[in-house]
Amino acid sequence: MQPADPFMQRSHLLGFIGAGAMAKAMIQGVLQSQAYAPTQIACCSATGRTSQALSKQTGIACLANAADIVASCDTVVIACKPLELEHIGPVATAPHKPLIMSVLARRSLQDLRKHFPDARVVVRCMPNTPVRIGFGMIPYSVETPLNPPDLETLHSILKALGSCLEMPESDLPAATALSGCGPAYYFKFTEALCQAAIAQGLSPSIAAHLAKQTALGAAQLMQTSQESIPELIKEVAHPGGITESALAYLDKQHFDTIIKEMIATTAHHAQSF
Ligand SMILES: NC(=O)c1ccc[n+]([C@@H]2O[C@H](COP(=O)([O-])OP(=O)(O)OC[C@H]3O[C@@H](n4cnc5c(N)ncnc54)[C@H](OP(=O)(O)O)[C@@H]3O)[C@@H](O)[C@H]2O)c1
Repeated sequence: MQPADPFMQRSHLLGFIGAGAMAKAMIQGVLQSQAYAPTQIACCSATGRTSQALSKQTGIACLANAADIVASCDTVVIACKPLELEHIGPVATAPHKPLIMSVLARRSLQDLRKHFPDARVVVRCMPNTPVRIGFGMIPYSVETPLNPPDLETLHSILKALGSCLEMPESDLPAATALSGCGPAYYFKFTEALCQAAIAQGLSPSIAAHLAKQTALGAAQLMQTSQESIPELIKEVAHPGGITESALAYLDKQHFDTIIKEMIATTAHHAQSF
């Protein structure tokens, strides 16, 4: 008798170990883009609290634990907290050899391989929260060059969530500090602009409307214009004008140095354990 084809035993294409904020954002992204149907996705969590809620909300399956996810899914996304990986595995994946895709900060490819020794291939991704609406930025690193079908699988997920870019693992800490954490920097800056405008007498709703639309317009311009960012700045900040004096004030307060130090510190924190 021929041995059963292990691929045929897999009931789901995409599985998530962890069903918290990032798993939810990614699942919402792939469902919204229709890259996957709810019936093709499964998740699990430690207590079952988040996985049951996510299953109810999205229609995806909720399985009992990580071993069940690994056994029944072709691609497995590791989306628990970095330290929680210690409670998972090593998970034997034979006869299945799933593609393992981790979103964990600070967990190296080598470290992940120890937890999933039989994985077909291990990939490290660093998504950000805009994946929820298909506007994420996802730098990733691979253990070994992916074969075309695996690359297609990876891109079918990542491109449904936004833009992705392969890079050496040694660049991931800086990428984490920039795009992984980045949405929070833009939100913080926008919130500071709102509060400053409210202090000048604008209502909170008008300040928020102006600040958000300005962020959106500036982002679209950066994305679509042929001009560099310094050129776009110059277009607003005419010599002797009020924008130039605003930027001069930021320079006097060492704005660039503050950002440089923040990114350096964050990239240092994002180094693997
Ligand atoms: N948030 C971001 O912007 C961002 C960006 C890039 C990468 N990440 C990465 O995404 C990962 C998850 O972050 P998050 O914000 O989504 O965390 P979170 O909301 O706290 O979710 C953690 C999830 O892991 C589950 N879990 C814990 N132990 C588990 C186990 N032994 N087996 C299976 N599931 C387990 C939890 O389940 P229960 O609570 O239900 O038990 C929960 O569903 C982190 O490693 C982080 O580095 C986050």
